[in-house]
Amino acid sequence: MAVPFIDLRRFEDGFLERWARTCQEVSENTRFVGGPGVAQLEEELARRCQVPEVVACANGTDALQLALRALGVGGGDRVLIPDATFWATFEAVVNCSAQPVTVDISGDDLQLDLDLLEKGLDEFRPAAVILVHLYGWGSARLDEIRELCRSKRVPLVEDGAQGFGVEWRGRSLYQGATISTISFYPAKVLGACGDAGAVCCSSPELAGRVRRLGNHGRGGHYDHPDVGWNSRMGGFEAAFLNLSLEFFEERIASRRRIASQYRERLADLDLPTCAPPEGYRENGYLNVCLPDPARKTSLTTALKSRGIGFGEVYPGSMSQQSGAQRWLAGRLGGEVAQRLSRSVVNLPLFAYMRENELDEVLDAVATGLRS
Ligand SMILES: Cc1ncc(COP(=O)(O)O)c(C=O)c1O
Repeated sequence: MAVPFIDLRRFEDGFLERWARTCQEVSENTRFVGGPGVAQLEEELARRCQVPEVVACANGTDALQLALRALGVGGGDRVLIPDATFWATFEAVVNCSAQPVTVDISGDDLQLDLDLLEKGLDEFRPAAVILVHLYGWGSARLDEIRELCRSKRVPLVEDGAQGFGVEWRGRSLYQGATISTISFYPAKVLGACGDAGAVCCSSPELAGRVRRLGNHGRGGHYDHPDVGWNSRMGGFEAAFLNLSLEFFEERIASRRRIASQYRERLADLDLPTCAPPEGYRENGYLNVCLPDPARKTSLTTALKSRGIGFGEVYPGSMSQQSGAQRWLAGRLGGEVAQRLSRSVVNLPLFAYMRENELDEVLDAVATGLRS
């Protein structure tokens, strides 16, 4: 039996019928950009993320650019970013005319290394830091990282593209951040019917700047006190997200269940995995296996031969990308990120994955590890 890496079609009973009715309503009301659906979504996201205000936008990459721009990051500034993340984090810095400096990750939680960050703050005097919450959890040292940046007066942007639904010490991961971002790319834990994103803001002033930048720097309709761009969320995306949020608790519970079953059963197969640090409740975004690189090929060959999808999130660090070289202003370490990229394999994990699909994947893993 083939098992896809992710199956976006596992809708709940009645979901598609309700979505069809919602499409009809949005079409009849012609609320194609912004409108009450977007306002409703922003309010609900602020409640769930436990933050004062959320601004909806076009995608998670724009959300990062809006956050950086709202903090005043611009030409020639340096921004520290983790060496293990998705390329969008790097791009967001460059697209703001700033220069990325990569900082290695910690081998314990695979998130930004606090000690190297401290070194980077002194050495590079950055205008901002981007902390990425990778894989469906965050740094074991999140509070210390926030405190360090606060004490050095360097704004911290938290790239929470993958983090929707994650809890840190019983609260939303986004709570306590100065500014953080979310991606609603369809494959995310909360996915839209197209590209969409959001910025979580710790004050109405910051939210006002983000909102203005994402709407052509507008003060009034034809009054432009700032230069921004168009990063507004569409009405269909907002309506799809509003509907999906009604089912979110079931979806995340299903993902969390599968994520922990994987961890238990892969330990029996002697395959190392990475788990969220103490204090986190993960959202089940990704399974993270860390086989010895020498065994990776036999593992992935067995998965391929059985028609089982898998990911390698991510197969190269940021500072290794050919596109990085002309923009990098510096790098601190990078060996841990490179070791991760040589090893990492992600097994299928999605809401409502079936027990027999999990069995099938684990059987293929066992075969791959034996050969
Ligand atoms: C860590 C990280 N940052 C940023 C993004 C960009 O989000 P989007 O694809 O919505 O632009 C992603 C999306 O995959 C991501 O995983």
